[in-house]
Amino acid sequence: MDERGAQVEPLKIGLLGLGTVGSGVFQIIQKNGEELAQRTGRKLVIKKILVRDLTKKRAVEVPPELLTTNLNEILDDPEIDLIVEVMGGVDPASSYIRRSIQAGKHIVTANKELLAKNGRELLSLADEKGVHFHFEASVAGGIPVIKALKESLAANQVSKIMGIINGTTNYILTKMTAEGVSLESALMEAQAKGYAEADPSSDIDGYDAAYKLLILGSIAFGSRLDLAGVYTEGIRKVTPVDLDYGRQLGYTLKLLAIAKETPAGIEARVHPTFIPNSHPLASVSDVFNAIYIEGDAVGELMFYGRGAGDLPTASAVCSDIIDVARDSGAKKACSCLHVKKQLPMANTVTRYYIRISVQDSPGVLGQIAQKFGANDVSLQSVIQQGRGEPVPLVFVTHEVSEANLERAISGIKALDCVYSVDNIIRVEGEA
Ligand SMILES: NC(=O)c1ccc[n+]([C@@H]2O[C@H](COP(=O)([O-])OP(=O)(O)OC[C@H]3O[C@@H](n4cnc5c(N)ncnc54)[C@H](OP(=O)(O)O)[C@@H]3O)[C@@H](O)[C@H]2O)c1
Repeated sequence: MDERGAQVEPLKIGLLGLGTVGSGVFQIIQKNGEELAQRTGRKLVIKKILVRDLTKKRAVEVPPELLTTNLNEILDDPEIDLIVEVMGGVDPASSYIRRSIQAGKHIVTANKELLAKNGRELLSLADEKGVHFHFEASVAGGIPVIKALKESLAANQVSKIMGIINGTTNYILTKMTAEGVSLESALMEAQAKGYAEADPSSDIDGYDAAYKLLILGSIAFGSRLDLAGVYTEGIRKVTPVDLDYGRQLGYTLKLLAIAKETPAGIEARVHPTFIPNSHPLASVSDVFNAIYIEGDAVGELMFYGRGAGDLPTASAVCSDIIDVARDSGAKKACSCLHVKKQLPMANTVTRYYIRISVQDSPGVLGQIAQKFGANDVSLQSVIQQGRGEPVPLVFVTHEVSEANLERAISGIKALDCVYSVDNIIRVEGEA
């Protein structure tokens, strides 16, 4: 019933996918259906569910007549107003969403890769057709950060976002830091616990975090970021040795997704990053996610919670479904009102940790310091420990541009006294 006592039609939903997230959505709507109907003023009904395999055993008990392998059964049903896409992948999910929008259906999706690659086109199409298009679960699972950026923080100019938005790599780095184990061994444990896929490259190589950063940054700065311009470096080069030096320097290592608006343009980058142990993100461990935001009015904010899992992710999907049922939430799908310049990585200014293997002989430190100085790289600290051949030298710089640092490193690599530059890790947060 609406406020005048008239009967309100239920919101009929076509669910695309009944895997981890789809089963969570089904479960929440089954369990909390009455309560949701009272809150939204409309009953939520899952009318059809698209799957690949009708005979597969499901995590939830679903009446068999709800399942179909034929998308047209959903698209051609005029009673279905909303498509909830929780299949994953770009194809065919992208064409299924495009066809659904063209059929006038509202969209809720949890699919970050699809949004990062085809978001510009699909969001514009949704606006053209006047349908809702919500995607809260696409970034940081259960944490309602997209709604916060689009709506609750709309009065702010956001200047910076720093996030731990990939639970798999955060679990691996937490294990490596706490137990001194190798990346391979921490990854095997993550796979055994179901936190990492059999093919973990999207997580380990930073792509998953880059897709999510593109979504967050585009909303925060109101300008669509370009995926090719998001610098993306994963955690493959992180070693227990670097984590140990980080500990001596008072740093914790995290795979951070960073987007900053500077007067010259927008920086967007994903890479392993040392942060001071006192930074709020340093204590975010295991599979947890957190997003740290700086806004001109609100100051510093941090969102923390579960970035994945059936029910946490389904919680975000269901909040989008509720927005459609109430016809509330930002109706305009695309919030990119500006076209701002996205900066190349060479323009990025940050601090660096550099580990070098050198000859154990007098004057070596001076030769290296000269190369740093000649390229305007000033040093904050140096660790020189132990003897032997080769001997490790660790430097932390003050703020310097990536381009200057690269020039200094090329000069250092060419020195006869240098065996190898073993690792370079960016450092964020107050010195
Ligand atoms: N898992 C998480 O914690 C999490 C967190 C945040 C966001 N997400 C996002 O949510 C989405 C779904 O993830 P998930 O973990 O739930 O995936 P999943 O467990 O692999 O489930 C995918 C479901 O989609 C169905 N499906 C896939 N391709 C299909 C096709 N071509 N035609 C028909 N049905 C198809 C599968 O059908 P069958 O069951 O018949 O094979 C399965 O039911 C992804 O975009 C993911 O990035 C997931």
